[in-house]
Amino acid sequence: MTTAAYATSSLTERDCERAPAWLRERSFLPDRWRDEHTRSLVAEDDTGAPLGAGTMWTSRVHPGRYNVDLVVAPEHRRMGIATALLRALAELQPAPQPFIWGAAESDPAHAFAASLGARTIQRSPLDRFSTAHAVRLRPHDRARSVREVTPSAVEHAWADMYEWTHAEWHPVGPGSRGALIEDLWSETDADASSVALLPSGGVGAVVLVFVDSKVPVIAGETASCETSDGARLLEGAIRRSLDELARRGTPEVAFDGHESDPHLMPVLRTLGPLTRWHRIVEFHC
Ligand SMILES: CC(C)(COP(=O)(O)OP(=O)(O)OC[C@H]1O[C@@H](n2cnc3c(N)ncnc32)[C@H](O)[C@@H]1OP(=O)(O)O)[C@@H](O)C(=O)NCCC(=O)NCCS
Repeated sequence: MTTAAYATSSLTERDCERAPAWLRERSFLPDRWRDEHTRSLVAEDDTGAPLGAGTMWTSRVHPGRYNVDLVVAPEHRRMGIATALLRALAELQPAPQPFIWGAAESDPAHAFAASLGARTIQRSPLDRFSTAHAVRLRPHDRARSVREVTPSAVEHAWADMYEWTHAEWHPVGPGSRGALIEDLWSETDADASSVALLPSGGVGAVVLVFVDSKVPVIAGETASCETSDGARLLEGAIRRSLDELARRGTPEVAFDGHESDPHLMPVLRTLGPLTRWHRIVEFHC
């Protein structure tokens, strides 16, 4: 390995303003942008020119791991700079916690994570799905618009669903329910979003259509991991959402789901082949 001479220090507002293109592209924020759990470092050569940068932050929903991002100037890669930045970030953690990072499986940066002994904790499909394929799913007579139940019933079902689908691999922290529902109604299309009701009238499955990106993103599962007839309820709710989007002329959607979601994955396999994956890994330093 060729080595490079550099020193690491806090990334400042000024560093961000005068950042070269390779650093600007990743939108790093200055050190401690929120608090002691949001840290950013820069590695500079002896003239003060940046060679690489690293940042870590916890989320309000998942305080148990640090999200991390690193970038090194293309001409200074494979010299150990990212590894050194990661070690320096680890030393700044008030209590040692693992790092979490994800990217498309084809991303070369997975080789860097692998060099640290990264462990895959989840995969999510990256494919787009045609709304015309909705006919492959069975409708359900208890699938409705989310407008037909109270907002709080939808919010409860959403937070319950999020908690159980993450429990095994990325558990939520205490008091995270507020953060989970905070921007729900401004980011979703309520007419296209669906619930499937239990015979009791409660929400058995919830499917929200997020419209804050170019292609609508559908996320959903049963409200509980033990919902009776959950697979059929979820299938019906997704069918309703896709029908509504197709009726408006929306040609395709993405799904925000996990390989471990027991009722969602069979639906996605029915809608189309799963060919591209986002892989989330955990590593220590
Ligand atoms: C990923 C990235 C940050 C790695 O930076 P780096 O300074 O080159 O990484 P290091 O020199 O510390 O690499 C340590 C080890 O990781 C592995 N590795 C790093 N980059 C690799 C690559 N492109 N291909 C294969 N292995 C790689 C090697 O085992 C390497 O050790 P070696 O050079 O002795 O073989 C850099 O390639 C980059 O800036 N990529 C674009 C941004 C990005 O994808 N960031 C996400 C990272 S979390």
